[in-house]
Amino acid sequence: MRTESAPLQSPAPLDLIPPQVRAAQDYETLATDFIEPARLAYVAGGAGHDQTASANRSAFSAWSMLPRVLRDVTAGHTRLSLANENLAHPILLAPVAHQRLVHARAEIETARAAEATQSCMVASTLSSVALEDIARAAGPHKWFQLYFQPQRADTLGLVRRAEQAGFGALVVTLDATLQAPSLRALRAGFRMPPECVAANLRDASRPPELPALQPGDSRIFQGLMRGAPTLQDLEWLLAQTTLPVWIKGVLHAGDAAVLATSGACGLIVSNHGGRTLDGAPSSLQMLPAIRAAVPSRFPLLFDGGVRSGADAFKAIALGADAVMVGRLQVYALSVAGALGVAHMIKLMREELEASMAFAGCATLEEVRADCLTPACMT
Ligand SMILES: Cc1cc2nc3c(=O)[nH]c(=O)nc-3n(C[C@H](O)[C@H](O)[C@H](O)COP(=O)(O)O)c2cc1C
Repeated sequence: MRTESAPLQSPAPLDLIPPQVRAAQDYETLATDFIEPARLAYVAGGAGHDQTASANRSAFSAWSMLPRVLRDVTAGHTRLSLANENLAHPILLAPVAHQRLVHARAEIETARAAEATQSCMVASTLSSVALEDIARAAGPHKWFQLYFQPQRADTLGLVRRAEQAGFGALVVTLDATLQAPSLRALRAGFRMPPECVAANLRDASRPPELPALQPGDSRIFQGLMRGAPTLQDLEWLLAQTTLPVWIKGVLHAGDAAVLATSGACGLIVSNHGGRTLDGAPSSLQMLPAIRAAVPSRFPLLFDGGVRSGADAFKAIALGADAVMVGRLQVYALSVAGALGVAHMIKLMREELEASMAFAGCATLEEVRADCLTPACMT
């Protein structure tokens, strides 16, 4: 087994749209030629044995879309309003850390693609490029994803920087309380390469010295989980900012019901792309129960396994207002930088529009559960 991720051996990203890409998902196949194997294992892998990452994908096959006839959709559109922002379409770029793993200009390219396609980009706390630089490259729709830091002063520092840089909302990720290793990445010998530093955290304070574990203490409960955010931390954060705050990483209807009254502007139904609790259900499986647990128009975003416009259609039909795309943006970035990401979004948006047109839906409000039927799984 190798002990270090090999130096980047991938071909340089293209400066054209590859002719073989005809569907958004084609970028996933093509990325294997552009991302060095250990890095690809890190990006593609889920936690543990990939059970949840696989479930995220297969959950979409459990649903079929129902076509309708004689519906006039000539005034159709995909516009929506989220957290006071008017968006042209419901395909957002999920926060994805360390984008320098696949492209030298990293999140700057993704941000340019977001601007070109009128997409909302969510920049990760762990981006390879400073959040101010991402904000300058992105269009008007940009949110900042926040991980609680060990010191509240550092968390607040990130919030203030995001506010000053012009981010329109915060996305607070709550589900990554532990680092859940990907067996696939470990077996491929992945190590984070030195050029992939978390640019936003360069000036963060050293984590406080915590009392040593006592004999009999658990490395997990009394150790690693000491730093996990609590409800008090969330309440504190909500009191610090006037930006709308989304909560990312909700999979349990009971949590959703509580969080819907917390002051957050909306929730993101997500299992972190299967990168946290391996064995958790797919995000799609839990979406209807979460929709039922929150007030009827309470904003819900969705991610986990979205690879096509048809997937986006199904998630919206099952209760999401919009979807976020994680890995597919990385794959498109690796193949053709900003051009690739913009092309991937354009394809996915057209796939969604085609699904809506066939299903007789002129607007996203018309995309409801009765547009789907359980698939015959033979
Ligand atoms: C390589 C990688 C890095 C990620 N980094 C973050 C992150 O920094 N913050 C976060 O909230 N989610 C992060 N995620 C999770 C994504 O935001 C999203 O929930 C997930 O990728 C959606 O599933 P999908 O990849 O199947 O679209 C990351 C996902 C991947 C694949």
